Order: sequence, then C-alpha cells, then structure tokens
Amino acid sequence: MQIKILVAQPEHTVYARAICTLIEESAKARGTGIAKRKPEYVEEKMLTGKAIIALVDGEIGGFSYIETWDHGKYVANSGLIVNPQFRRHGLARRIKAAVFELSRKKYPEARVFGITTSLPVMKINHDLGYRPVTFSELTQDDAFWAGCKTCPNYDILSRNERRMCLCTAMLAPSADEVRAMEVDLSDMIVEG
Ligand SMILES: CC(C)(COP(=O)(O)OP(=O)(O)OC[C@H]1O[C@@H](n2cnc3c(N)ncnc32)[C@H](O)[C@@H]1OP(=O)(O)O)[C@@H](O)C(=O)NCCC(=O)NCCS
Repeated sequence: MQIKILVAQPEHTVYARAICTLIEESAKARGTGIAKRKPEYVEEKMLTGKAIIALVDGEIGGFSYIETWDHGKYVANSGLIVNPQFRRHGLARRIKAAVFELSRKKYPEARVFGITTSLPVMKINHDLGYRPVTFSELTQDDAFWAGCKTCPNYDILSRNERRMCLCTAMLAPSADEVRAMEVDLSDMIVEG
C-alpha cells in the first residue's frame, strides 16, 4: 500500500463528497457522536490549508480538519474519518499527529482540544499528550456546541446545560506547558 499523509490542497476537493459519505455512513453504523458535514465545508477546509488528507494508492484513506473557536483561542481537530477498507493500519494515528502538528504551526498559542466517544481516538490523543478534562475547560463558543445538534445525544448535553455528555473532553498541553516540559526534561539530563 502506498500511503500519503498530506496537508490537503485545492486538487483534493474532488474527494470532498466521498469524505462526507464516509462520515455519514460511519455515523449511521456507530449510532452516535459524529456530526454531519457538507461537501462545501470540507472543500473550504481544503482550500484554506486547514485539513489533512490520507491517500492510499490514490484512493481516499482518511481525513481530519482544523476548526477555530473564541477568535482562535481554541482549536479543535475535527471530522476524523478513516475509510473502513483501510482501518487498523495506523492511519488515524498518522492523520491525528499531522493535524495536531498543523494546528500547532498555524495557531501556536491556541488550546487544542477534542471531544470523543471513540476508544482509538482517546488512545491517540493520550499519546499526543492530551488529558481528559471537564467541559468547563473547553471553548464556551456557542458555535462549537451547535455542532453537537446533529448528534443523537444532544438532549443529554442540553439537559446538563453543556456541563457534560457522553463524549470525553480532552485537552492538549498549552504552548507554555510544552515549553515548561522541555525545560524540565533538559534539567533531568545528567551529563557524564
Ligand atoms: C476511529 C477511527 C478513526 C480509527 O482509525 P484507524 O486508522 O483504524 O485507527 P489506527 O489504526 O490508527 O488505530 C489507533 C489505535 O486505536 C486502536 N483501534 C483502532 N480501531 C479500534 C477499534 N475498533 N477498537 C479498539 N481499538 C481500536 C488501534 O489498535 C490503535 O491502538 P494501538 O496503537 O494501541 O494498537 C476509524 O475507526 C473511524 O473512522 N471510525 C469512524 C469515525 C470515528 O469514529 N471518528 C472519530 C470521531 S471522534
């Protein structure tokens, strides 16, 4: 298999419809947790350099994109999907790492977060340094939470006044925390 993990370019917009179909079919199969996306929205992410695409032998392998909230204070890596034909080959791990790196590059001071019910996503986030947090630590931007309206569990979220739901919230270390960790780690290196 020839796998390419790329920052999506305008030429990749031809895959937008197929990506939306994959997202929709996976949402039906899981019965929860994945908001619907329109091809125009996916295309816009590709045209603005805010998406990662995986191609496997020229076919769509997977996708994820960046969303910003609270005027760029928060960044979510959203819409992660891997083509069922190519699952369990580490594609999601590579896409998530690439979209995380792209987020850091484009928005170095933003808090990167995600909400998920997926075990694979929790594992990958954990390995990237994310920690579970309560929803109070995430963006309070209404536009982000409006994205949950197409989830079948939305009634649970609203009943709890957005404080909790079935998704686990995970927050990546801030730029300051990363810098502090680098200092701590260099303190721990003993020469000789
Ligand atoms: C979740 C999803 C993205 C995983 O993609 P993938 O390419 O198969 O994942 P990877 O191969 O990179 O696996 C990552 C880790 O999760 C584990 N994993 C993958 N699928 C799993 C499953 N169904 N059950 C348990 N563990 C699983 C892998 O073993 C790996 O862990 P390890 O490195 O400790 O062995 C894919 O199944 C998918 O597109 N699902 C539908 C959409 C979805 O749920 N998106 C997430 C919304 S938040």
